[in-house]
Amino acid sequence: MFDIQNSRHKQTTLQPTASADRTPLQLASMSIALVTGGTGFIAIYVVKLLLDRGISVRTTVRRLDDRTKCQPLWALQAEFPGKLEIFQADLLKDGSFNQAMQGCHVVYHVASPFLVPSQIKDGIKDCVEPALKGTRTVLESADRIQSVRRVVLTSSSTRRFTHSVKHIADRVSHSRSDVWR
Ligand SMILES: NC(=O)c1ccc[n+]([C@@H]2O[C@H](COP(=O)([O-])OP(=O)(O)OC[C@H]3O[C@@H](n4cnc5c(N)ncnc54)[C@H](OP(=O)(O)O)[C@@H]3O)[C@@H](O)[C@H]2O)c1
Repeated sequence: MFDIQNSRHKQTTLQPTASADRTPLQLASMSIALVTGGTGFIAIYVVKLLLDRGISVRTTVRRLDDRTKCQPLWALQAEFPGKLEIFQADLLKDGSFNQAMQGCHVVYHVASPFLVPSQIKDGIKDCVEPALKGTRTVLESADRIQSVRRVVLTSSSTRRFTHSVKHIADRVSHSRSDVWR
């Protein structure tokens, strides 16, 4: 169960109303944006879009030693010197995103198993459980790390065909309201 009883917004001096008025891109331009799953089809476009706008970006990959998957990110590092940092993080490991998230204002959570039917043996185990666990892991880090003002979750139109969105919403509904819109 996603339990966020000790949410930091009770002890913090943040001003959620002011940050809630800003778009994620405006917030990102104030500091560093984290994009999870930088090796992914959608995430690398988000990384590139942010870099093109002059924003400093951090991204995560499942394995830093996977040369094939990291190569496009290394190419972006060469194109935007000093603007892109790459960290290793796994959706299935608690606290895995803490280091990458420190100092970030905005988190774009894009990493998620996105498999074609032939890759799926057990939909719950292969897709739903890692997606839920990963979302919970990222949100728990965002709730603890003081710099984070906004979390942007990537979803899919396929959610309409499942009960997964209600399932996630039920689990995160106790999260800090100021990072959710
Ligand atoms: N593609 C579309 O047309 C589309 C449309 C609408 C919405 N979306 C949504 O956008 C999101 C991303 O889709 P995508 O097409 O970009 O998928 P993708 O190319 O398969 O990328 C998925 C990313 O998630 C990472 N990932 C998966 N399991 C992980 C784990 N246990 N730990 C860490 N990273 C993990 C993958 O890392 P590895 O590279 O190491 O596997 C990869 O970086 C999904 O939520 C999807 O529903 C996609």
